[in-house]
Amino acid sequence: MTMKLLNKNIVVIGSTGLIGSEACESICENGANLVLFDINKKKCDQLYKNLKKKYSNEISYFIGDVGKKNDVVKLLKFITKKNKQIDGLINIQQYTSKKFFKNFENFDESEFDKIINVNLKGTFNTCQIIGGYMAKNKGGSIINFASTYSIVAPNMSLYKGTSMNSPAAYSASKGGIMALTKYLGVYWAKKNLRVNQITPHGVYKNHDKKFIKNFNNLSPMGRMSKKNEVTGAIIFLLSNDSSYITSQNIIVDGGWSSW
Ligand SMILES: NC(=O)c1ccc[n+]([C@@H]2O[C@H](COP(=O)([O-])OP(=O)(O)OC[C@H]3O[C@@H](n4cnc5c(N)ncnc54)[C@H](O)[C@@H]3O)[C@@H](O)[C@H]2O)c1
Repeated sequence: MTMKLLNKNIVVIGSTGLIGSEACESICENGANLVLFDINKKKCDQLYKNLKKKYSNEISYFIGDVGKKNDVVKLLKFITKKNKQIDGLINIQQYTSKKFFKNFENFDESEFDKIINVNLKGTFNTCQIIGGYMAKNKGGSIINFASTYSIVAPNMSLYKGTSMNSPAAYSASKGGIMALTKYLGVYWAKKNLRVNQITPHGVYKNHDKKFIKNFNNLSPMGRMSKKNEVTGAIIFLLSNDSSYITSQNIIVDGGWSSW
């Protein structure tokens, strides 16, 4: 146990997902207090109970839709009732649905709106409301989640023989997050508020055999990522070890975007 985040207050948006729930564990292990925020009440309640069983840190949760500005305003009120100081904010939420895998020509307008609303506008909302509060106080660290597809186009042979795909709307939303992060990192640089992003890639979650085979063939490391291989970068960016790093992107992709 390193306790790199001892007594810091961290907010995780989209906390119950694959990487989010792993990040919450690691944040607790490192001594921080935690506020979970998610749209999924059942999963949030479960995660909260699991964490409370293991850690004595202050942990609470709030249910809402990150795409709705008013829900984020309510979240800030909820947090600041208990703790005036917010040291870290992580935007790790994403919107997915069964329609996600439709091809570009047939992609629904309403799906495009939902992806942009949760991924990009959601990140904008929390940066504006919670980040704005942090900037007025002592600053801290914001981590947004981009994607390899903010940097490179999907290699379509990854999806060959599978029912999967990655929509252009996802790339567009993640490219927007990348630009927003760079903007805000510089905008708040003198406020002691650092804004960075993490780019994971191919985190394993019971993918089908064909997908894994395709992935391994295209990956310089020849394998998918384990979910705990992303948390090191999260703890680093939240901690004082990264105090001179802002507006940057830590790419955790096993070399994928380098060839
Ligand atoms: N998993 C990967 O391989 C991978 C690769 C590249 C980028 N990423 C990015 O990393 C981040 C985490 O990925 P993941 O696989 O853990 O995601 P996930 O789909 O497992 O989790 C997303 C979380 O967001 C929550 N959420 C959805 N809509 C919401 C809303 N309106 N309001 C609040 N919460 C909402 C969900 O309930 C869920 O807990 C995402 O931003 C994703 O785009 C992941």
